Amino acid sequence: MTVKNFRAMLVEQTEGGTFSRKITERSLDDLPEHEVLVKVHYSSLNYKDGLSATGHKGVTKNYPHTPGIDAAGVVEESHSDSFRTGDQVIVTSYDLGMNTPGGFGQYIRVPADWVVPLPANLSLKESMAYGSAGLTAGFCLLKLQEHSITPDLGEILVSGATGGVGSFAVAMLALVGYEVVAVTGKTDEKPFLIDLGAKEVISRSEAIDTSGRPLLKGRWAGVVDSVGGEILTTAIRMTNLHGVVTCCGNVASPDLRVTVYPFILRGVSLIGIDSQSCPMAFRRRTWEKIAKEWKLPHLDRQTSLCSLEELDGEIDRILAGKQKGRVILDLTS
Ligand SMILES: NC(=O)c1ccc[n+]([C@@H]2O[C@H](COP(=O)([O-])OP(=O)(O)OC[C@H]3O[C@@H](n4cnc5c(N)ncnc54)[C@H](OP(=O)(O)O)[C@@H]3O)[C@@H](O)[C@H]2O)c1
Repeated sequence: MTVKNFRAMLVEQTEGGTFSRKITERSLDDLPEHEVLVKVHYSSLNYKDGLSATGHKGVTKNYPHTPGIDAAGVVEESHSDSFRTGDQVIVTSYDLGMNTPGGFGQYIRVPADWVVPLPANLSLKESMAYGSAGLTAGFCLLKLQEHSITPDLGEILVSGATGGVGSFAVAMLALVGYEVVAVTGKTDEKPFLIDLGAKEVISRSEAIDTSGRPLLKGRWAGVVDSVGGEILTTAIRMTNLHGVVTCCGNVASPDLRVTVYPFILRGVSLIGIDSQSCPMAFRRRTWEKIAKEWKLPHLDRQTSLCSLEELDGEIDRILAGKQKGRVILDLTS
């Protein structure tokens, strides 16, 4: 039976313009009118949630607001022919947790075309271990594969390697046979990255060339970059003939200072990844792969669970670039 009230994190703007977070009771009437009401069992923490939780207007314009760009749970009411009460579903991206109340609450109400049926061979909790971060890593891997970057072509560079996107990229690429070189600012986490499947771990300074030379000695067959800035700039200049660079994040910087030479002299492709608006067919295909051939055998090694009450500290940690792996929010109790 659907309850009227539920618990959620609420981010509010104070009169002084600062932002505060609290765990509070919300009503189903606080949720927007959409087709599918989902009782959220699990969510997960992404960098974007940290931005939404601290008043970043580029992510969330209107407060008070409940962040959480990821949610997995069970359909409680549906006004769409595509879903029935009791269906297990995943909702990530689109506007969830941005300007639509998100997965840091026990209920969400969303349009039916944001909803993905939970693939066979994946639990709700496992789906949130991946969440937007794992899905984005999956999008990058699928793009590399679709652009004929096969494991025999050489090394793949993954930046932000201990983060959400990066750690899944390292593990999934290694699982399907690629040689992964991981870039990290946390060099003491080398054992963690080797355990995930990295062949080599390098520091951020080793991944940055400030010589200004438009092309550097080629090394990478492919790149998964979630940080942007100098690391991405260097990676593009070090990508082999007809290599492919996937670009999905900007934690270091949104800047990209390159010449056209990697593209016109080496045929390098730069592929943008936008999980938020990714077409549903590509999204479903990626989830199916995550549930089958890319399913990681030791998900618990890169995930930890937290409660709504513990979420506050985790938000501070992810914003400070100190999160390792993925934090799953457990809303079942
Ligand atoms: N395009 C999309 O669809 C999409 C989807 C999901 C996420 N994203 C974006 O991808 C990025 C990563 O997201 P996430 O959830 O993986 O975040 P995360 O868990 O915070 O991971 C980011 C990682 O980047 C590294 N890093 C942090 N600050 C850095 C700096 N100043 N210079 C270089 N590296 C730095 C850190 O790893 P190391 O310490 O190991 O270096 C950190 O753990 C964010 O920008 C996010 O918005 C985009």
